[in-house]
Amino acid sequence: MTNTKDTGQLPAGHVSNDFRGQDILSVSQFDRAKLDYIFNVGQEMQVLVERFGSADLLQGKILANLFYEPSTRTSSSFMAAMLRLGGQVIPINNVQYSSVTKGESLPDTIRTLESYADVIVLRHPELGAAAIAAHYAKKPIINAGDGVGEHPTQALLDLFTINQDLGQLDGLKIAMVGDLKYGRTVHSLTKLLINYGVEFVFVNPDILPMPEDVLDVVRGTGHTFHQTKNVHEIIGEVDVLYVTRVQKERFTDLEQYDRVKDDYVVDEALMSHAKQKMIVMHPLPRINEISYAIDDDPRAAYFRQMRNGMYIRMALLAAVLGKG
Ligand code: NCD
Repeated sequence: MTNTKDTGQLPAGHVSNDFRGQDILSVSQFDRAKLDYIFNVGQEMQVLVERFGSADLLQGKILANLFYEPSTRTSSSFMAAMLRLGGQVIPINNVQYSSVTKGESLPDTIRTLESYADVIVLRHPELGAAAIAAHYAKKPIINAGDGVGEHPTQALLDLFTINQDLGQLDGLKIAMVGDLKYGRTVHSLTKLLINYGVEFVFVNPDILPMPEDVLDVVRGTGHTFHQTKNVHEIIGEVDVLYVTRVQKERFTDLEQYDRVKDDYVVDEALMSHAKQKMIVMHPLPRINEISYAIDDDPRAAYFRQMRNGMYIRMALLAAVLGKG
């Protein structure tokens, strides 16, 4: 149903907005031209917020923010994005979860919300839930994380941050560290970065490797990647160190979680071996994997990342509602 979404009769905005009425389900929907478009609008949104705080671009529009899993940043930045563009939000957090595959609960909820709202942001614990919702909805669905699957809006804000902080994407060496098996942010980020000439390093405990289907995407585009357990081995050569939390809620055996949860800790000692021009990223929340002692290091980019999340989500909302 991706091409038949109904967003009402809005005037076309920028010439190259291909997103009007579209779902945002996966990073595979984006090529370099579309990424440039979103990043340019994201930058305009940043200027807008810094100069004026808000605008009335989406006045009269309503976002349903439907979260079946916990969230602080994604949920509140989507809300802030909509409010700063003059729209309104129906916030639905901590919904009692029931199986999409067995019951009708998610489709019915989506049908309900789209009778009231113009766009739906969905976070759900099941892989593929956003695609199922999009199948039933006529209004645009934005995937805010579907279980261990994807988190496309996070990957967009991550790329935007790398580009802003380092001034380039091509030519970078990018390490992803921690839970690469269950971390949906690194799945989406890897699949988005293949649009650029980057080199990948995957640093993970044996039991938490990057899934083969993601590695296949990397192989398919001829990108180089290297896998290791040892972060010390690579810290001196990377431009981006993207650190992730071990995703406790995805483990069936908590003993396994306990065994690997503290495998990587980015602290001052480790950072003393890093390049001067590089950045440390984290989608947050962090548990122990980044020491608070490096928060004031200019290379720590995770607070800039979360601020950028609002600008990128403003760009996405404007784009799918036809005003980007
Ligand atoms: C991430 C998520 O939900 O996947 N958080 C976020 O959206 N910033 C990462 C995580 O929970 O570890």
